Amino acid sequence: MRSRSLAVGTVLAVAVTACGTNSGNTSGSGTADPGGSGDGVKVGVVLPETATSARWEGFDKPLLDKALRAEGLDPDIQNAQGDVQKFATLADGMINAGVRVLLIAAPNSEVGASVARKAEAQGIQVIDYDRLNLGGSSKFYVSFDNVKVGELQGRGLVDGLAKLAPGKKPAEVIEIEGAPTDNNATLFYNGQQNVLKPKYTSGELKLVQSQPIEGWDNQKGGTTFEQILTGNGQKVDGVVAANDGLAGAVITVLRKYGLTGKVPVTGQDATPDGLQAVLRGDQYMTVFKPIAAEAEAAAKLAGALARGDTAAADKLANGVTKDPKGNRDVKSVLLTAQLITRENVKSVVDAQFVKASDICVADTAAACAELGIK
Ligand code: BGC
Repeated sequence: MRSRSLAVGTVLAVAVTACGTNSGNTSGSGTADPGGSGDGVKVGVVLPETATSARWEGFDKPLLDKALRAEGLDPDIQNAQGDVQKFATLADGMINAGVRVLLIAAPNSEVGASVARKAEAQGIQVIDYDRLNLGGSSKFYVSFDNVKVGELQGRGLVDGLAKLAPGKKPAEVIEIEGAPTDNNATLFYNGQQNVLKPKYTSGELKLVQSQPIEGWDNQKGGTTFEQILTGNGQKVDGVVAANDGLAGAVITVLRKYGLTGKVPVTGQDATPDGLQAVLRGDQYMTVFKPIAAEAEAAAKLAGALARGDTAAADKLANGVTKDPKGNRDVKSVLLTAQLITRENVKSVVDAQFVKASDICVADTAAACAELGIK
């Protein structure tokens, strides 16, 4: 199913490129801007935060800019810095500036849904980017299979425990989860539990505490983890951290108690800091989500919608996602993520997501040499 729809996507991409110099557009909406000179159709992107993950400014922003320009569109990409009001204001500005398509990754579903309704009332097409807005009205959603992301984290934790705490029964686990207002955090959690719950039930693992962290606040994640750890007599065998930012905060606390490298910690996003921590052995795993592919899929959809070609947009979707709050199916492009441990960090460099020089620093140089990362 996936490979079939990807193949369709590729064919469409070629078709779009082939007619890029002549918009091939009979509706007169004039979208061609192959050189990305800036006079193409305006597309707005509002990203949610900077501090919760290095991905938004470090990856999504430049990759979306490149992918949208390659579609002949003229992007305006802003970041709400975790401020719900700012998110709404930025979106308002874009709506008033006459964007034809709006891509939103909202700090919470309420503001995402309200922005979508407002934009659609002006005839603007809205794509939920990475985060689905529950109870929203956007017609398309582009993301990863986020339950699968959580399953990779659960699997990574179990593998890490087998290596670092073999035979320990029950192994004690602390879960530091993402923002309760981000639907993705719920999906990651659900995926993790698909793997971990049977082990909690069987007594192989013991859950010390599971704690969602408001706004994915990394600092709060660290202080919360420390409270749980000290409350448990400074004992922990494994930590689920929902992304690399939270993992970094957890690792700082583990260091304070002499536990770094002894306790598997999960992560997500394959950020340069996260990958360095994996190379050092401080973090057991991360999840590599190829954001270039996510940005390209979103840009192709935006291109089709900007041309008013909803049939092409429909064909790009490779499935639907349930919005349990709005009781609706949202046409989706869902991409596949990859489990990364020390052994295959190299594949993230080979995929050109990060450069060797981003992750091979003084205290990881030996690991890079050993793993052939250069
Ligand atoms: C994204 C993650 C990110 C987290 C915090 C989630 O919605 O899918 O990649 O780490 O937000 O920014």
